[in-house]
Amino acid sequence: MSTRAIYPGSFDPVTLGHLDIIHRSANIVDELYVAVLNNQQKNPLFSVEERVEMLKETTATLSNVIVTSFQGLLVDFAKRVDARLIIRGIRAITDFEYELQMAQTNRIMEHGLDTMFLTSSLEYSYLSSSTVKEVAMLGGDISHFVVPAVARKTREKFCERS
Ligand code: PNS
Repeated sequence: MSTRAIYPGSFDPVTLGHLDIIHRSANIVDELYVAVLNNQQKNPLFSVEERVEMLKETTATLSNVIVTSFQGLLVDFAKRVDARLIIRGIRAITDFEYELQMAQTNRIMEHGLDTMFLTSSLEYSYLSSSTVKEVAMLGGDISHFVVPAVARKTREKFCERS
């Protein structure tokens, strides 16, 4: 039986930390859906279409990765694509409480749906999309945190806004 998993997130924007989890997960499962949450309430910097596009560009070499977006509950999306495994990255103990709560909530709603946690690689354990946005907004160099195309698009966003 082949394993189909979902790596969900906001990806606003995709960081090297996310890409590390995507590459490692794609080596473990047969098919990986990278699913971008379409949630305007979070007031994202990038539209969902832009986030999907950046993820598609940065994962183009991975033949078993499918990038898409979803709205509403993750458990409903999982049912639609017939996936029984969710993958999330854990950077530090501070991530754990929220991740545990989400994993338990999802499993209560959908018993067959498990969450697998990958510990982030040490070099990305400090990294988040929020940090990337803050550094970019203040004119700092984000080239250590994201791929060059994403760095350029993030800088452009802040230029457009100012
Ligand atoms: O990258 P993020 O913002 O930490 O990702 C959070 C995400 C998208 C995985 C989470 O907010 C989510 O699954 N949202 C969909 C709504 C849902 O299913 N909520 C119930 C589970 S708590």
